[in-house]
Amino acid sequence: MNGYEINLHHLTKAYGSHLVLQDINLTVQAGESVALVGKSGCGKSTLLRLISGLTSKTQGHIIVGGREVCAVNPEIRFLFQNARLLPWKTVLENVILGSPDRDQDTARRVLQEVGLQGREDAWPGDLSGGQQQRVALARALIGRPRVLLLDEPLSALDALTRLHMQRLIERLWQELGFTLVLVTHDVSEAVYLADRVVLIEDGHIRMNQPIELVRPHGKGPETIQYEKRILNGIMKPQKKIV
Ligand SMILES: Nc1ncnc2c1ncn2[C@@H]1O[C@H](COP(=O)(O)OP(=O)(O)OP(=O)(O)O)[C@@H](O)[C@H]1O
Ligand SMILES: [Mg+2]
Repeated sequence: MNGYEINLHHLTKAYGSHLVLQDINLTVQAGESVALVGKSGCGKSTLLRLISGLTSKTQGHIIVGGREVCAVNPEIRFLFQNARLLPWKTVLENVILGSPDRDQDTARRVLQEVGLQGREDAWPGDLSGGQQQRVALARALIGRPRVLLLDEPLSALDALTRLHMQRLIERLWQELGFTLVLVTHDVSEAVYLADRVVLIEDGHIRMNQPIELVRPHGKGPETIQYEKRILNGIMKPQKKIV
């Protein structure tokens, strides 16, 4: 199963008189991994919510898999900073919630994919933060989404768990072929996971930087160069290039 292409055409979003995103034009190719970066409040989460159908646009078009997004759609899944599990349901039951056919065997298989086999009957409260995010990932992946949207899902995790989760997300993305859009404050994480890093500032796309490295994106001098370039872009405004 392949990921869907995402096309944003002249996309504008205002909350009342507050213009957050202005005339955004962006294509994310089918199966591509794109990271959105930018200062706090620049509209990254708003952009993800627009793509998912959780928030309505003010103007423009959001086309996913050739269709205009009008509402929430199970083919497009969203993972938040907080795992948002139901504490009164077991791990397995939480994963089943994401399944259109409520299939237990599939839920068990997906839990295995995220490395949580044996924890099916545990309560969310008894899991670590990283394990809870794995459950949330399993719940998002059980329906085999075409697009996975991640809004800083690793920012609350310790550094080591975070590295493990980055590798897990990369592996699942490579195996399952969904299109990935990730919001992160961590430039290293963006360069590690993304084929392209998009910087948003003042409602516009200020940088659209392909990461031309062989996967896995290691920690060599080229990676460091990319990280510096993106960090410089976040720190000081540049000319709009899109
Ligand atoms: N539901 C809402 N109603 C009104 N304003 C909102 C709403 N959601 C977001 N905003 C405003 O839109 C702007 C962009 O918010 P958004 O959450 O998209 O930023 P962000 O880039 O994700 O920030 P952060 O990095 O801190 O998560 C902010 O000024 C925010 O206050
Ligand atoms: Mg946000």
